[in-house]
Amino acid sequence: MSDFLEPREGLTSTGRYLSPQIDATVRLNANESPHSPLVGSSIIEQSDMNRYPDRDARILREAIAEHHALSVNQVFAANGSNEVIQTFLLAYGGPERSVMIFSPTYVMHSKIAAITGTPVIDLKREKDFGLNVDFVCEQIEKEKPSLIFLCSPNNPTGISDPEELPERILESLRTYKGILFVDEAYGEFASSSYVSLISEECPLVVSRTFSKAWGLAGLRLGYLLGPSRCIEEVANVSLPYHLGTITQSVAVNALKDSRSVENQVDDIIKERNRIGEALKNLAVEVWPSETNFILFRPINMNATEVWEKLVSNSVLIRDFSKIEGLNGCLRVTIGTKTENNIFIEALEEILK
Ligand SMILES: Cc1ncc(COP(=O)(O)O)c(C=O)c1O
Repeated sequence: MSDFLEPREGLTSTGRYLSPQIDATVRLNANESPHSPLVGSSIIEQSDMNRYPDRDARILREAIAEHHALSVNQVFAANGSNEVIQTFLLAYGGPERSVMIFSPTYVMHSKIAAITGTPVIDLKREKDFGLNVDFVCEQIEKEKPSLIFLCSPNNPTGISDPEELPERILESLRTYKGILFVDEAYGEFASSSYVSLISEECPLVVSRTFSKAWGLAGLRLGYLLGPSRCIEEVANVSLPYHLGTITQSVAVNALKDSRSVENQVDDIIKERNRIGEALKNLAVEVWPSETNFILFRPINMNATEVWEKLVSNSVLIRDFSKIEGLNGCLRVTIGTKTENNIFIEALEEILK
């Protein structure tokens, strides 16, 4: 018998988030931006650090609301979108509820569901990783999950949802009370977004992050957009003063320069398209991407062996090859032009 009290039931099997943080020269494993905005040390000097931060993060939320043409009461901010997801599930999940996901998708959705004791209905995507709209709506109407989680565009596959999916899911949600949660961590790179569908009457919330297009993964800031009554419930379960002064100031400053983020996104998309084409000339299967990463599968070589050889060339990408539904798949983040060239040349040599 163990001497120690076990954690709550259901937690022992969840394990830690698995993604090796290896000290490589070219780091293309975590979908970060290769560009780091200049946030300036003056922010720290100016901050009133002996005082608690603004508990409501009012100025930051106003700036985010303005950025999306929404109202401040339709914005909740937290330390990264993972914390947004967790806070949302604390408010709306739990043992009596359920969350429907479509695998393979971002692994933290089911992990945070497990942590918050929320049962998961895990449905599989099509062979090409797409979603069949009729199937999705049929399952929603049959299972009536309290929460439906979508990742759009999806990580780690990179693809977007069928155009009619949002409207059709929202139509299904008219038959019972549920909420559609859309994780748009890569929304800035995509050609469509669910944000325009947000309204006070619609059971839809959308999460976004500063960790990808905004180049601020180290800051830890994510946010949720949705009807004010949902936002209020989520804010109610967050801890007091959860979002630090420095995080709030840096993000407000970053939002003043959204134009340069848009330019960087354009550059990353050009690079993504270039690397996508280059991959098509190698012995790999490649999936189209609306994000800042590309999923691919080596055809004649073991994926983990390819990953290890890249690491020995000091190029770190992400190995998904042993994850269910992603057999043999690897994912590369789009970096700078130089980094991308180093990656593609190393891969070409390895696959020869
Ligand atoms: C789809 C998706 N959602 C959320 C996150 C979490 O982002 P963060 O907590 O850094 O905002 C990630 C990170 O990789 C992601 O890929």
